[in-house]
Parts: sequence; C-alpha cells; structure tokens
Amino acid sequence: MTGQITLLSKREIEKMRVAGHLAAKLLKHLEAFVKIGVSTQSLNDEAERWTKAHGAKSAPLGYGADGDRKAFPRSICTSVNEVVCHGIPSPKQILKDGDIMNIDVTLIVEGYHGDTSRMYLLGEPSATAKRLVEVTKKCRQLGIEQVKPGNHIGDIGAAIQEYAESQGFSVVQDFVGHGISNVFHTEPQIAHYGEWGDGKKMRRGMVFTIEPMINEGRFEVKLLKDNWTAITKDKKLSAQYEHTIAVTDTGYEILTPYED
Ligand code: MF3
Ligand code: CO
Ligand code: CO
Repeated sequence: MTGQITLLSKREIEKMRVAGHLAAKLLKHLEAFVKIGVSTQSLNDEAERWTKAHGAKSAPLGYGADGDRKAFPRSICTSVNEVVCHGIPSPKQILKDGDIMNIDVTLIVEGYHGDTSRMYLLGEPSATAKRLVEVTKKCRQLGIEQVKPGNHIGDIGAAIQEYAESQGFSVVQDFVGHGISNVFHTEPQIAHYGEWGDGKKMRRGMVFTIEPMINEGRFEVKLLKDNWTAITKDKKLSAQYEHTIAVTDTGYEILTPYED
C-alpha cells in the first residue's frame, strides 16, 4: 500500500450510498430470522438469497485467499460471544438463549461496496453482555462524531478508546477499519485506539469504515485453525458495530444507515 488515500467523487459516493443502504437493509431483514434454535448457516443462506434477489453480490464469499489461508467460504460473518470477528456460519452452530452475535455484511452493487455490522441479542443475555453491546455501539457513534475535514484519523480511535476503557472494557488492536470503494479493503487504516491528533487529516471524499471490536476482558485475540475465526484470548465476550462513512464538506455521512 502506498499510503495514498483515494478521494471519491460525488458520483462515486452516490454508488457507495446505494450499496451501503442495501447492506443496512439486509441487516434489518435478517432480524426476523435470528432466533434461538436456528443455525448461523441458515442466516447465511437467507442473506445469500436476499442479496441475489436484490441484484447484489456478497463481497466476503471467496474473498481473502492469502498464502496458507483459504478464501472466506460464506457470504456473511457471524461472530457469536467470544468470537471477535470473521466467524464462519455453520449448520452445526445453533444459537442459544443468552448469546450475543454480530452479523457483518458487505454487498457489492455496480462494483461499489457497502460494509456494515450490528449485534443481535438472543433471549436474555447477562447484564454485562448487554452493557458491552451498548458500550460498543456508543463507541462506534463517538468515533463517527470525530469525522470531519481537518480532524485527524487518530481522533477516531482516541475517542473510542477513551470511552471503552472508561467503561472497564478493552479495544481490539489486531483488526481495524479501512478505506472502501470499488475495493473492499484499502487505505486508510482506521485504528479504534490511539492518540488525539495522530495520523493524516481527513478530507472530503474519503470513505472508510469505523468498526470497533470491544472486549469484556483483555484486548488480545487469537486465530482459530480455520485461519479466519478470531476469538478473545481470555474467552470472554466481544462485541462489534460497523458503519461505512463518507467525509463530507462539514462532517460525515453514514452510508449504511440503520434504524433500530
Ligand atoms: N466485513 C468485514 C470487514 O468489516 C470483512 C470480512 S472479510 C471476510 O472488513 F472475508 F471475512 F468476510
Ligand atoms: Co469493514
Ligand atoms: Co464488515
């Protein structure tokens, strides 16, 4: 990576908006299918069906083959409880009362990507689990509120880390937000921790994700043998929320808006 950050034109941002809004709509659609007793595979299959029916493509399917690592084998990521990110849907994984799960979807429409994720609660999770989910959602929001021309990319992570740690939680360092356009993952990297004033200044036309992963316990993660699934090293809970964001003249636009 050269460190060059692409600035998108108004026309390109309109394409990102179309893809982003559709991705957000898919997260909403899946709500009705997330139930105690269903498999994460069934959620993948419904997402795949819906995506095709809407003329879009799933970016994760077949993505990211790299050396020893095989391409991602499903259309969505389902990350349950101690899974930090990139959980692989499976017919053997049945959702149970008290689980917390992130579903992460990335759709491609006319070549442009919309990338977003949210948490789903199954039945009655513990008070700590519910607090972790709420804090993580607020972390994403606090990060987004730092987005405007002239602010530094490091301000996003600083705002997130300050709040997460004030609540007794920790910020995952091994996975970061990313520039996104007609490319799935590109410059800049958006760390969800860091120092105020660090990093490049934001400019109108930059488009990137903010996707903090916040852990109940320690921040360290480890990779399972499938070379995709990342879990917390201490096996405590992890939560994540993601939006795709454009830098505008005066601030930000959420390209993957979602009403609760
Ligand atoms: N959607 C994830 C992100 O937020 C990336 C998933 S890549 C996959 O960047 F291959 F695991 F699907
Ligand atoms: Co992303
Ligand atoms: Co994502």
